[in-house]
Amino acid sequence: MDKENLVELKNIWKKYKIIGKFKKSLRESISSFFKEKEEIEDDEFWALEDINLTLKKGECISIYGPNGSGKTTILKLISSITYPTKGEINIKGKVAPLISLGAGFHNDLTGRENILTNGSILGMSIKEIKEKEESIIEFSELDRKFIDMPVRKYSTGMNTRLGFSVAVHSTAEIILLDEILAVGDEKFREKCHEKIKELKETKSIILVSHHMDIVRSIVDRIVYIKKGKIVEEEEIKKESRQN
Ligand SMILES: Nc1ncnc2c1ncn2[C@@H]1O[C@H](COP(=O)(O)OP(=O)(O)O)[C@@H](O)[C@H]1O
Ligand SMILES: [Mg+2]
Repeated sequence: MDKENLVELKNIWKKYKIIGKFKKSLRESISSFFKEKEEIEDDEFWALEDINLTLKKGECISIYGPNGSGKTTILKLISSITYPTKGEINIKGKVAPLISLGAGFHNDLTGRENILTNGSILGMSIKEIKEKEESIIEFSELDRKFIDMPVRKYSTGMNTRLGFSVAVHSTAEIILLDEILAVGDEKFREKCHEKIKELKETKSIILVSHHMDIVRSIVDRIVYIKKGKIVEEEEIKKESRQN
């Protein structure tokens, strides 16, 4: 592994299977059951094809592309939520992923309990989490009356804000942010924007967002992806960032 790199994806291919009921009608399912293997394999597709990607220490990059192009899959591979079909992944350091909305939260646990479980998943000790708890809740702007209620009572915005807050308070070196700017109002988006700029000083970040203006004002490099393939990489010069 290159000394400067915290993340290396080398020739990564990821195949997904589309299973029965989502794609096929019952009749098609029954008929394919009696068919030869090749035809069943028609239901597999490559979500990623030969991806080569690196994240250096201190770098902040964005993966940019249309819906379904494989951005979340890349972040899931980096955080070991899923595994590649082919290729090599090297990671140096702890990863704090904020991927699906309310990432990793348990519906039946309260906000406070989720801070604890999520924080430990992100590699913090109980002591560290307890010390940061107030600041986590404060940053999330969650109404205090909710913090001891099960998160199933939270809105998606509330879940994401709390998830984002835990992730940014974690001690992980690598932070993965998947469309967090898409939720919440303008004010919270601006706050996230500011927080990401601040995090850049100490962490390495991969930001997935459709807000191109925000992306361009933060990141060092944009990796463009289309239908599972990297099509272009663009360095963003510091001078051109309108901070
Ligand atoms: N668990 C899964 N099983 C089957 N297909 C999946 C799964 N997760 C994602 N996909 C498919 O893989 C492709 C890439 O998805 P994703 O990485 O979520 O894209 P993006 O984040 O860029 O919108 C899409 O076609 C999506 O439907
Ligand atoms: Mg996605």
